[in-house]
Amino acid sequence: MRILNFGSLNIDFVYDVDHFVRPGETISSRALGTYPGGKGLNQSIALARAGASVVHAGQVGEDGRFLVELLEESGVDASLTRVSTELRTGNAIIQRDAEGNNCIILYGGANQDISSELTDELLSQMQPEDWLLLQNEVNGLAHIVRAGKARGMKVVLNPSPANEALEEVDLAAVDLFVLNEVEAAQLAGLDEAADAGELVGALGRRFPTAEIVLTLGEEGSVLASGDVLLRQEAFSVPVVDTTAAGDTFTGYLLAGMLAGERPEVFMRRASAASALAVTRPGAAVSIPRSDEVDEFIARL
Ligand code: RIB
Repeated sequence: MRILNFGSLNIDFVYDVDHFVRPGETISSRALGTYPGGKGLNQSIALARAGASVVHAGQVGEDGRFLVELLEESGVDASLTRVSTELRTGNAIIQRDAEGNNCIILYGGANQDISSELTDELLSQMQPEDWLLLQNEVNGLAHIVRAGKARGMKVVLNPSPANEALEEVDLAAVDLFVLNEVEAAQLAGLDEAADAGELVGALGRRFPTAEIVLTLGEEGSVLASGDVLLRQEAFSVPVVDTTAAGDTFTGYLLAGMLAGERPEVFMRRASAASALAVTRPGAAVSIPRSDEVDEFIARL
């Protein structure tokens, strides 16, 4: 069984700042780093490092060929990742503060030029037993969900970033949501102040057949799947950069599910992998290998 991750590939420009720039203000950054990123690419690399068989579908410009090479070097099948000769690769302008927090501006570029024809062509390469993983950084999400479901694939949605594009999507077709509190509040129609119990309850009522994994940052994560309700703690580590922590969690979580691990095991490994990722700078380059996650857990 394979997982097709149909998602973004970005070049991340990371500016180290003392505080996030405010309206009307001009600030200088202490350093600039350029990293491979994009929620799609990060999650594919996390899946591969966790041992899953993952195929990445998406699109870069000529300037993003190194991202395709990185996918391949990381063990991802990138044969369904296209290179546009007309568009530039998507990018992210990321401000990172001294505590490792970030705020991000996205430019979609080639990520936002996925046609229905291309989607259908790429999905035709997959089998009904394969899983389809999506985030919200490529265009045409509504069509991709419909087409994947029609093909019989299990649809996993990480609705990140949460924005109006999600309103077009048939969310009832989603089998598994992996989302944070902000995204959960938007989908559940609740205030962001709602607590984890309220969010999981409201999502369960709105999507009664879906599994839900809610990530809560330092408060850990919650899995709601049928009769199973499981809470996983977050591990306390020195934070350098939180970028891609959620992507790392998602990749390790799904790899564990695909491998048939018990919920206690895949939730713990996902939490450990994302803890390791925040101790390192950058997005894709911060994602740990499986043996590093094993060592981290062994030391707990
Ligand atoms: O989730 C982190 C990612 O979000 C970054 O790599 C950036 O590219 C944005 O897509």
